[in-house]
Amino acid sequence: MSAPTGDIGLIGLAVMGQNLILNMNDHGYTVVAYNRTVEKVDQFLAHEAKGTNIQGARSIEELCAKLKRPRKVMLLVKAGDAVDAFIAQLLPYLEAGDIIIDGGNSHFPDTIRRVKELESKGFLYVGAGVSGGEEGARYGPSIMPGGSPAAWPHLKSIFQDISAKTASGEPCCDWVGEGGSGHYVKMVHNGIEYGDMQILSEAYSLLKDVLGLSHEEMGNIFEEWNKGELDSFLVEITRDIVRFNDEDGTPLVAKILDKAGQKGTGKWTAISALDLGTPVTLIGEAVFARCLSALKQERVHASTILKSHAQAQFTGDKQQFVEDIRQAVYAAKLISYAQGFMELREAAKEQGWNLNYGGIALMWRGGCIIRSRFLGDITNAFRKNPGLQNLLLDSFFTDAIHRAIPSFRRVVSQAVLLGVPVPCFSSALSFYDGYRSAKLPANLLQAQRDYFGAHTYEIEGQEGKWVHTNWTGRGGRVASSTYNA
Ligand code: 6PG
Repeated sequence: MSAPTGDIGLIGLAVMGQNLILNMNDHGYTVVAYNRTVEKVDQFLAHEAKGTNIQGARSIEELCAKLKRPRKVMLLVKAGDAVDAFIAQLLPYLEAGDIIIDGGNSHFPDTIRRVKELESKGFLYVGAGVSGGEEGARYGPSIMPGGSPAAWPHLKSIFQDISAKTASGEPCCDWVGEGGSGHYVKMVHNGIEYGDMQILSEAYSLLKDVLGLSHEEMGNIFEEWNKGELDSFLVEITRDIVRFNDEDGTPLVAKILDKAGQKGTGKWTAISALDLGTPVTLIGEAVFARCLSALKQERVHASTILKSHAQAQFTGDKQQFVEDIRQAVYAAKLISYAQGFMELREAAKEQGWNLNYGGIALMWRGGCIIRSRFLGDITNAFRKNPGLQNLLLDSFFTDAIHRAIPSFRRVVSQAVLLGVPVPCFSSALSFYDGYRSAKLPANLLQAQRDYFGAHTYEIEGQEGKWVHTNWTGRGGRVASSTYNA
């Protein structure tokens, strides 16, 4: 048998897999393609991959035999059991030092487990988040790889060659860190994606329902927004979506059922934030907003019973309010990204990952769904100060939020008065007001806990000394044991 020539193998010929293979081929790599339903391999070779250097494999054994060592096999299959099943099938045909890469949206605890298991057997394992949808996969995704560090030198050139590039030519792919950190970063990316989408939906609802603007007018507004500090993929597609007319000449988006779906990555981000005790409120609200939207029937029924008792209509300066909404979008995004990076920092602490926050912002700068000009500013902030405690404390962002806050308050209060739901806007503003408060009412909360459960409290200035008071004269003097979630 002739010497193997494959640079990398790829399992899973759905659209993302096919496009990644074609992208790698464009960059001069020899890819060996395999799919569980083998006919798909033949079809791919006969059509999309016709005339390329792409090779096909009709079995896992053949796939592995066609790869140069150390073998690199990338899985682009459904997250969950399918990943474990393919790993089990691959292992008999791999040797120590060979690398398996999972390019799907796997849950990070699974990746942590797989890295450990595979490393204990002498293999290398990488969980790589890939973002950018079909087009990104084909022409330049954002790739977030983490896992066995020894794998990175073997993957670096392929991944960085096929990834998106920033305007200054930097690849939107770099080594994230150990264990499940690559998939964790991708998960937070998706959580932020949920937040950005909900923020824009709230802006859309204010423009449409409060100001009564037409879809054409909104298209022009999103177009303007996309020229400034909100310049981003999601604003760009929102502009195109609101301008898109159905065959009858009316806006298609207005006909779409207002019931959001979700595959779970935003929920995982919120759950992890709760586990870490990090107040990632905006993403949490974005997930719940999707859940509330899904209660369509219930909402339709409730709408016939529950009244708003809100102000009837907006009476202010429309032009100014459009600008206020733009500023509110920017402020909410600032707070959401600050929260996202807070979550990354806490997870890194808990997991012992050494994360490069500027590098993460750079990976998100291009190729992925949340790509935006703004991520360039975040990269700069972390490059200037890698130990930055919170994004809002970087002078560029402190100035930016200070400029936006008056508008943000006007938008949230108008929405409240008019009875328009803005869960992400309002929770972001509350977070901002809480984060900048030296004093919060948690003193009362601590007293209440001690009153009914003898949970003890500390006196300001005497931290570390836990005190219990017999508030009623009836309770005992014994405090409950301390338990912190
Ligand atoms: C990406 C996206 C992608 C995500 C889908 C669906 O980065 O390319 O985040 O990975 O899975 O957009 O997400 P939901 O169905 O949960 O909205």
